[in-house]
Amino acid sequence: MTNTPQTLTLIQPDDWHIHLRDNDALATTVPHACMSFNRVICMPNLVPPVKTTEQATLYRERILTALDKADIPSQRKAEFDPRMVLYLTDHTTADEIARAKVSGIVQAVKLYPAGATTNSSDGVTDILGRAGVFESMQKHGIPLLVHGEVTHHDVDIFDREKRFLDEILSVIIKNFPELRIVMEHITTRDAADFCLAQADNVGATITPQHLLFNRNHMLVGGVKPHFYCLPILKRADHQKRLLEVATSGNPKFFLGTDSAPHATHIKESACGCAGCYSAPHALPLYATAFESVGALDKLENFASRFGAKFYGLPINTSTITLVKSDMSVPEGYPYLDGKSLTPLLSGQTLAWSVQS
Ligand code: NCD
Ligand code: ZN
Repeated sequence: MTNTPQTLTLIQPDDWHIHLRDNDALATTVPHACMSFNRVICMPNLVPPVKTTEQATLYRERILTALDKADIPSQRKAEFDPRMVLYLTDHTTADEIARAKVSGIVQAVKLYPAGATTNSSDGVTDILGRAGVFESMQKHGIPLLVHGEVTHHDVDIFDREKRFLDEILSVIIKNFPELRIVMEHITTRDAADFCLAQADNVGATITPQHLLFNRNHMLVGGVKPHFYCLPILKRADHQKRLLEVATSGNPKFFLGTDSAPHATHIKESACGCAGCYSAPHALPLYATAFESVGALDKLENFASRFGAKFYGLPINTSTITLVKSDMSVPEGYPYLDGKSLTPLLSGQTLAWSVQS
């Protein structure tokens, strides 16, 4: 038996991949994110997507308005810093990248292969044709965040990430060796090992669900729609490899929750949508995953140092304390107009909670 600490104080973490959605949804998502994270990288797959610096600036203002209205401590409000991302399309220009750079609020550009995931119909159809934009990003030091899945109908959903590495990402890296790239929400041994084989300018985020679960959790004993996210949960041996690299102390791997809210009734339906909501209890979830392999001592670097290092940003100066005391994950949170939002592991108990 290892001695489990009763409390775990961490440098305040950042979330390098989150979906806050827009408008009324922000009343739910912004306070949840703000209570755990300082900087959050806000994904741009709104309807319509955030394609320009001007749109990103307005979106950031809506997030800050929701923050202002939220009933949370003023110190948390002061530290919360939403960082924006532009959605790469077939029409993004090198000039737009230059505008993003001067804005100071656009942190990255996100590549969604067209049709890969929720709200990605405006995504890129000819990825390797985006050379001019990648060139400009490389020059301005703006990272490319990739949703790494091919979308051809004939490719099995469990093979889509590996095919993306082989056919697309390796070509982008070969042609733009200095471009900073984050492989978002990696789900396979292949992606972990691919990332390890690249230079320091290629990193990866890992979600709590891909560390804690595998496809059996989603499919055995009945389909569980709240485990359905993209890229889809894989076999247990992939989950094991993700846990290994996340807890290895290698700075290429860092926290990105991919917390992705969808109202309960549209997840629990004949065609449920992809995304797990984890923002309110993301840190207890990650602590549970790290503790499962006896690596709680590796959590702070993963959650609070390595992402900032990758983005060239300072390490936060505040702290947050996790306590080894049970947390009941609520059945649901109020969301939008009278709707409910079911969090990951709703109704269950986690062994860690955030100290209030
Ligand atoms: C995300 C969403 O709902 O916006 N869904 C998901 O399953 N992860 C989109 C994404 O990040 O792929
Ligand atoms: Zn996402």
